[in-house]
Amino acid sequence: MNGVKNMQDNFRNPNDLVSQIEQLTKKTAVIPSLEHQLHTMKHREKVFRRQSAIFPSASSLDVSKAKTDNETVSKLTVELERVRSELERTNEINMAQKEEIKRQNRKILDLSTKPQKLVAIFQEEMQKKDELIRKLNDEVVDLRGQIRVAIRVRDFNKDPSFNFQITSQNEVKFQQNNFSNVFAFENVFQPGASQPEVFDDIKELILCALHGKNVSLIAYGPTSSGKTYTMRGESGDEKKGVIPRAIGFLLEQSKRELAVIGWTYNFDASFIEVYNEEVFDLLDDKKKLEMKQTTTVGSKKIPIKDMADVTDLLELADSQRSVATTACNQHSSRSHAIFQINIDGVHKSGETVKCCLNLVDLAGSERAKESGAQGKQFTELTKINQSLSTLKKCIRAQKTKMPHVPWRESKLTILLRDYLGAGSSKTMFIAHVNPSDASETKRTLEFTADLRSTNIGKATVQTGQ
Ligand SMILES: Nc1ncnc2c1ncn2[C@@H]1O[C@H](COP(=O)(O)OP(=O)(O)OP(=O)(O)O)[C@@H](O)[C@H]1O
Ligand SMILES: [Mg+2]
Repeated sequence: MNGVKNMQDNFRNPNDLVSQIEQLTKKTAVIPSLEHQLHTMKHREKVFRRQSAIFPSASSLDVSKAKTDNETVSKLTVELERVRSELERTNEINMAQKEEIKRQNRKILDLSTKPQKLVAIFQEEMQKKDELIRKLNDEVVDLRGQIRVAIRVRDFNKDPSFNFQITSQNEVKFQQNNFSNVFAFENVFQPGASQPEVFDDIKELILCALHGKNVSLIAYGPTSSGKTYTMRGESGDEKKGVIPRAIGFLLEQSKRELAVIGWTYNFDASFIEVYNEEVFDLLDDKKKLEMKQTTTVGSKKIPIKDMADVTDLLELADSQRSVATTACNQHSSRSHAIFQINIDGVHKSGETVKCCLNLVDLAGSERAKESGAQGKQFTELTKINQSLSTLKKCIRAQKTKMPHVPWRESKLTILLRDYLGAGSSKTMFIAHVNPSDASETKRTLEFTADLRSTNIGKATVQTGQ
């Protein structure tokens, strides 16, 4: 029992084990010398006995010497036995220790390979999760086969001439005189909805851009309904809009989840505006840009590595965008602004994606009478209303499958064409309403009904080739 206990004690402290082994080695080294001494003594005893027989008158000196030798022999024999039994016991301990060391070594080996195994399992699960999300997302979009529409409702003063009601998470009701209709949406953002809440509901769509789909988010609505507030937002973390949140989200996703499963991404951004039917580069001193098919030629592209790049870029664009104080809005956008992030992704398997995310803040429709616009502002207003009306015409033409869709009638529709019909992409309109104004609210709701029934076909992955 004691031996076992000693063994257990020895295993507890590796230093004790080492010192025991050292002691044992020293003791083992003594054995040959003890054996040699014993052998010599035995030999001398034999010689003495023989001499005693031949010379019985041996001196008392010899007798006492022989006695001493005898005692030494006995002591040495006892000592040798003790050392031998200790050696046996220590050998047993040694064997047990060797077994234990082997066991510990196996454990260490197992532990050292465990993290690699876990990482491999984790990566595999992430890959599966990623594939499932892509598949589900595609299925949902294919089933819908149309432009998605959400609506964001601003705080409003109730106007007794009409009734506007948010009836559910997906529906609003509009009633005026004999007109009464319920309009359905992917999402209804109530007046109290915060910027993070709005972004949370659309980020799944933004993720599709990392999966290789062209994605567009378009803020639509009358002047002062909150389009710029939604897309650009205001200062302070809580009030940040979709544009800075989307870039933060893309950077975060690409550096974390997607990096784990082997994707590497590069982003660059351009920011242009359509003002009075001309296209300007908001990142390049408002340089006027020429158009080629559905793209602008030579717009400046700024690489995005982190959020600091984005903050600088957005401040630059803010300082360049055409804004004016009108009767309806102190900071009214006088242009349609298109912020585009170009995404280049490459997977370790060699697969590539090349696509873009468009975040569009349209200028708002307004009526000349109410806005009190004159001169330059009147021209702006006319151009804004014309391009928005072309946008509506194009969508209606698509809806009714007309042979001709008037894309070329405005710069805005030329630029958005690939995201509204001809190409394959995922598009979401966020319609904004300020239900203090009956006719603007009704017009916006009717436009969204057209949008929802417009089929834009199946989204396909844009590869780098
Ligand atoms: N959901 C909201 N919560 C808080 N403030 C809002 C909200 N929506 C709009 N606002 C405020 O209303 C004002 C007008 O909003 P914004 O400039 O975004 O309108 P807009 O639709 O872009 O108008 P325009 O077409 O004239 O450019 C801003 O001062 C903005 O802060
Ligand atoms: Mg605006």
